[in-house]
Amino acid sequence: MNELTKTYTMHNGLKIPKIGFGTWQIKPGDDAYQSVAKALKVGYRHIDTAQNYGNEAAVGQAIKDAKLKREDVFVTSKLESFIKNYDDTIEAFEGTLNRLGLDYLDLYLIHAPWPWDDMGKNCDAGNVAAFKAMEKLYKEGKVKAIGVSNFSVNDLKNILEHCDTVPHVNQIAYFIGLDNDEVHDFCDKHNILIESYSPLAIGHALDQPVIKDMAKKYQKTPAQICIRYLLELGTVPLPKSTHETRMKENADVDFTISEDDMRILKAFKHDPRQF
Ligand code: A2P
Repeated sequence: MNELTKTYTMHNGLKIPKIGFGTWQIKPGDDAYQSVAKALKVGYRHIDTAQNYGNEAAVGQAIKDAKLKREDVFVTSKLESFIKNYDDTIEAFEGTLNRLGLDYLDLYLIHAPWPWDDMGKNCDAGNVAAFKAMEKLYKEGKVKAIGVSNFSVNDLKNILEHCDTVPHVNQIAYFIGLDNDEVHDFCDKHNILIESYSPLAIGHALDQPVIKDMAKKYQKTPAQICIRYLLELGTVPLPKSTHETRMKENADVDFTISEDDMRILKAFKHDPRQF
């Protein structure tokens, strides 16, 4: 069994492939179509998209054309960050399903606790309303698991306090250098699986000396160290690439990082991303 077919089990019993293929910043249209088609050919069975990425139609077409059994591909999408009420959540979900050409989703997430253009705004009531709509979709079987993304401990507490379902997933930016201990500990305590987006810090982690040194030591590439690190932490890395060779490289991570080396990597604190 390679790393692409290994799974975690969420707190509702649903299995999720340990490594997903991220599609953020992959252009809609042919780029997204070709990338997802290649990823499925390489063996990825977990594809992560979002309404906000604008590429759901191309992603869905690539999944359809791969002619895999529906139950063999795990598909995630996300609710637009500015949608913070019940009815619009149901409507947005139907739009996502239509664009993807699917009749159910494996995982549906609230993309962020606030609209991207108003980060930090308190949307507690709106997040509860959106999550309650997701609970309805979950109960109806239109989605197999529901969760959140970019949620802090306080954002998660708000959902736990006012909704019936403990989110199955919290998808956050996570890579060597970015400290997520507080939210990670909270999620572990509540059996919320963490998915790690930008596992390579959007590519900027790859030339960090501490990561390069570790890659030399293990005779792996910096990208493989980044992805293995997130697996050692029990999270789901979502690497993305438009190149087939890199897709293979990012999945070829069947090795172990020692506890001592994990400590060294965890102690490194630096976010090299540039926005
Ligand atoms: P490309 O799509 O040209 O391969 P993240 O997953 O953290 O968002 O990082 C994605 C970025 O890292 C993209 O720019 C991608 O470029 C690049 N990338 C992905 N995999 C690798 C790899 N194995 N080696 C070098 N760069 C990579």
